[in-house]
Amino acid sequence: MSDQANSLREILKKVNNENITAPIGAIQSGAKVLTITSGKGGVGKTNVTVNLAIALSEMGYRVVVIDADLGLANIDVVLGAMPKYNLADVIKNDKNILEILSTGPKNVKFISGGSGLEELSRLTPNELEVFVKNIALLDKVADIILIDTGAGISESVIRFVMAANDVILVTTPEPTAITDAYALIKAIGTRDSNKKIKLIINKADTAIEAQTAMQKLNSVSQKFLKIKLQFLGYLVNDPIISKAVKQQKPFILLFPDSTPSKNIVEISKKVVLDINKKRREEKGIKEFFSKFLFFGQDKEEK
Ligand SMILES: Nc1ncnc2c1ncn2[C@@H]1O[C@H](COP(=O)(O)OP(=O)(O)OP(=O)(O)O)[C@@H](O)[C@H]1O
Ligand SMILES: [Mg+2]
Repeated sequence: MSDQANSLREILKKVNNENITAPIGAIQSGAKVLTITSGKGGVGKTNVTVNLAIALSEMGYRVVVIDADLGLANIDVVLGAMPKYNLADVIKNDKNILEILSTGPKNVKFISGGSGLEELSRLTPNELEVFVKNIALLDKVADIILIDTGAGISESVIRFVMAANDVILVTTPEPTAITDAYALIKAIGTRDSNKKIKLIINKADTAIEAQTAMQKLNSVSQKFLKIKLQFLGYLVNDPIISKAVKQQKPFILLFPDSTPSKNIVEISKKVVLDINKKRREEKGIKEFFSKFLFFGQDKEEK
């Protein structure tokens, strides 16, 4: 076992024994952590994440979005705001995680991962302790945490996927996107065949096209990987989305009566149904980051 895994175990014991005061009168169980990912880039993850977050917030849930794309900044582009701090400031510059939360529309909170994400695997025990304590605070202020990742089967994306309670896979009906989605399902399935994978089909021309794409992907996944996908819904291909992106405003706020906005509301209802069913099982973001940090280091102890 690595040094990092060892010290993380000690830190988790300590944090669990400490009574961290909730800044907001909060729920007992941890937040539900959903990682939003895709095989192919540009299929609509960031738009789905931001608009879903707003829809969930409008239903009364406290939502935090973590921008975990190691590449170009994402969420801030869709929202037209550049966060001042990122996770690196929590690790290196003594910022409290609640201080690096920025508030977006409908009170959705955002955290930029930034360069902090790359540093997570090489923290000293002290830095790790600070980080885990901070992460534990998020469970007190959020009911749902959405993590927007980069595309593809990189080590970092797989870590985010495997550590989350559930994965939301976004794809378009295009054959190239479906092929890349399948490759990602396979990469997930070989690591954990019980991982729950939820599917959103984006940029569908019709409901039937979305259903057909879903069935195609689901049947090959079941046949060759023994993995059953859960269909969360679809969004139609609609120019209002690129209009909203150009204005750097979430489409659900700019065009609330548009079809994609209604599609997102349908999806949010399914997400919530599932959360309420499994509420008691959730261990929260602290559990998420311990799995994330242990990933690949500590297999024998699982
Ligand atoms: N349903 C849709 N209809 C029409 N255009 C869409 C739709 N969804 C997304 N787009 C367009 O696709 C572009 C890419 O979307 P987005 O940035 O959300 O994808 P992404 O998967 O996060 O990309 P990346 O992999 O680069 O992070 C957007 O700029 C938007 O214009
Ligand atoms: Mg993106």
